[in-house]
Amino acid sequence: MRKAFFTISFLIFLSLPILSLSSPVCNKDDEKVLFKIKESLGNPYHLASWQKSSDCCTWYCIKCDLKTSRIIALTIFQGNISGQIPNAVGDLPFLQTLIFRKLTNLRGTIPLAISKLTHLTLLDLSWTNLTGPVPSFLSKLKNLEYLDLSFNDLTGSIPPELASLTKLEDIHLDRNKLTGVIPDSFGYFKGRTPNLHLSHNQLTGTIPKSLGYLNFSSIDFSRNKLTGDISMFFGPNKTTTFADFSRNSFEFNMSKVVVPASLTWLDLNHNKIFGSLPKPLTGLSLQYLNVSYNKLCGHIPNGGNLQHFTSNEYSHNTCLCGSPLPACK
Ligand SMILES: *[C@@H]1O[C@H](CO)[C@@H](O)[C@H](O)[C@H]1NC(C)=O
Ligand SMILES: *[C@@H]1O[C@H](CO)[C@@H](O)[C@H](O)[C@H]1NC(C)=O
Ligand SMILES: *[C@@H]1O[C@H](CO)[C@@H](O)[C@H](O)[C@H]1NC(C)=O
Ligand SMILES: *[C@@H]1O[C@H](CO)[C@@H](O)[C@H](O)[C@H]1NC(C)=O
Ligand SMILES: *[C@@H]1O[C@H](CO)[C@@H](O)[C@H](O)[C@H]1NC(C)=O
Ligand SMILES: *[C@@H]1O[C@H](CO)[C@@H](O)[C@H](O)[C@H]1NC(C)=O
Repeated sequence: MRKAFFTISFLIFLSLPILSLSSPVCNKDDEKVLFKIKESLGNPYHLASWQKSSDCCTWYCIKCDLKTSRIIALTIFQGNISGQIPNAVGDLPFLQTLIFRKLTNLRGTIPLAISKLTHLTLLDLSWTNLTGPVPSFLSKLKNLEYLDLSFNDLTGSIPPELASLTKLEDIHLDRNKLTGVIPDSFGYFKGRTPNLHLSHNQLTGTIPKSLGYLNFSSIDFSRNKLTGDISMFFGPNKTTTFADFSRNSFEFNMSKVVVPASLTWLDLNHNKIFGSLPKPLTGLSLQYLNVSYNKLCGHIPNGGNLQHFTSNEYSHNTCLCGSPLPACK
């Protein structure tokens, strides 16, 4: 028994230097912060591997930088975690990725402490029960490329300051309870033009003309209370591939629209769009088209993919006709 113990201890002793060479060793400041985070979340089972006896770079939900061994990612996903996002997350100064996702017992607001994380490139706080506003202090995260706050209970309006983030590629604010207008500043993103996902909110007002200056590759404004003209999103020089404007109160003459050749997905259902479907729609590689429940009239142009869709995608218009709808009179 004793002999076995010594043998095992000796083997562990031998393997230690190898381990420390091949993997980073936890930074003590980071470790302290992680213990604070664990404690403020009520020491959940999900973080059971966070123990002093092991190197924090090996803990569940953690990623260390291989060279500096500082914590660069904290990814808490789909666990039985309750409480609020701990302020201590702001004290992991080298964090690049912060994910609290699919944690339905996570409550409270997005803490100001997050604005200290200036190295963040990815912030995903989606599918939780967060409340309060989309904070304007997120505009301090100058390196942010991906922002996902979707599927929460966030209220208030969209902070115009987000447009100052020059590296943003994706904004997901969909499936919240946001109100107010889409900010004019969203037509003045410097650097990249991000994909905009704002669907399933209670946004109102018209779309600022400024958004027409940009070249969004993917836009989803569906299921809001937006009004007015959206023809600024179309035009011969745009490279948009995905556009969902469905279930709003948009109102414009479709006949005059020049659809970008790049479009593969166009959903306009449930609006107040009038005029007729432009012939160049037949030149597009459309995978999805839905113009139902509008005020369109005239012939559905014949050709391209337009007859591959069913009558459901054209139904409930004022006087749209021709295949796949009944022939025009
Ligand atoms: C979640 O954790 C709480 C205690 O933190 C416990 O009471 C509850 O049973 C857990 N739920 C599930 C589904 O494991
Ligand atoms: C979180 O939100 C979901 C969906 O809105 C809801 O069904 C659930 O009851 C909420 N949970 C808590 C703890 O509030
Ligand atoms: C959109 O982007 C494409 C490719 O980057 C470019 O060729 C085109 O001129 C742009 N159009 C507008 C309206 O900025
Ligand atoms: C599209 O690009 C062409 C060539 O660069 C330019 O002449 C034209 O004015 C542009 N049209 C629009 C609507 O921006
Ligand atoms: C829509 O625009 C077309 C082409 O400019 C025009 O002929 C038509 O009268 C307009 N429709 C309505 C309802 O204003
Ligand atoms: C098009 O929209 C209508 C109305 O919302 C819906 O009933 C229909 O299923 C949609 N078609 C497709 C293919 O999604």
